[in-house]
Amino acid sequence: MNIGILGSGIVAKTIAGKLDSLGHAVKLGTRDVQATLARSEPDMAGGPPLRTWLETHPRVTLVTHDEAAAHGELVINALSGQGAIPGLRSVARRLAGKILIDVSNPLDFSNGFPPSLTVANTDSLGEQIQRELPDTRVVKTLNTVNAFLMIEPAQLAGGDHTMLVCGNDAAAKAQVTRLLKEGFGWKDVVDAGDITNARGTEMYVVLWARLFGALNTPMFNIKLVR
Ligand SMILES: NC(=O)c1ccc[n+]([C@@H]2O[C@H](COP(=O)([O-])OP(=O)(O)OC[C@H]3O[C@@H](n4cnc5c(N)ncnc54)[C@H](OP(=O)(O)O)[C@@H]3O)[C@@H](O)[C@H]2O)c1
Repeated sequence: MNIGILGSGIVAKTIAGKLDSLGHAVKLGTRDVQATLARSEPDMAGGPPLRTWLETHPRVTLVTHDEAAAHGELVINALSGQGAIPGLRSVARRLAGKILIDVSNPLDFSNGFPPSLTVANTDSLGEQIQRELPDTRVVKTLNTVNAFLMIEPAQLAGGDHTMLVCGNDAAAKAQVTRLLKEGFGWKDVVDAGDITNARGTEMYVVLWARLFGALNTPMFNIKLVR
């Protein structure tokens, strides 16, 4: 399947690598291709800069947001919280009718770590995105775990933990759930309901950030016991 990923950070790169290994045709979208290729600093996990990573993943290409969104039959939003709405707005016409997997969180680091949220309680970034893109089938998921767990949950407790999905389109959630299970290996995927449930998953990330500080590792997740 043709998949477009908006973003060039660690999440975009990690998901792109997995989807590429599964045989999908992946294009990563960035605001300025040349500027992104010129970056030489390692990523936030100490991994190689994108241009080096692309050399080891020759089937994945770095293109503009518009090209990535046009390419994708399925599109993934891996933009920063503050970049998500402007980035998606600029490609809205490319996303009509498509499924958009939203992994972003509305994190505000302006006062350092742990971050706060730019939207919460009565609204969420997932809802803002769905309102911005009324013709797009937004499915919020994966935003509650570290990038490496997103695509390989078996790294933790043999995969015995939970991923939540939410969104307004049942068929879109079912298709994304299949990708999570059959592609990424998630065993327990729970449909939390409509897109308003993004409030809960995004607000959980405030706790996630504090647990990250307390546990000193990003390799943990919730397990919904029921
Ligand atoms: N890191 C994790 O493990 C993790 C886990 C769960 C969820 N998330 C969420 O996933 C998203 C991606 O996270 P990340 O850590 O990979 O990267 P990030 O540093 O949050 O975001 C990087 C991407 O955002 C784009 N961006 C930044 N400001 C922008 C703006 N004003 N307009 C348009 N685009 C803008 C950058 O685009 P350019 O390429 O154009 O510079 C870059 O590709 C975030 O929303 C994050 O909260 C991250």
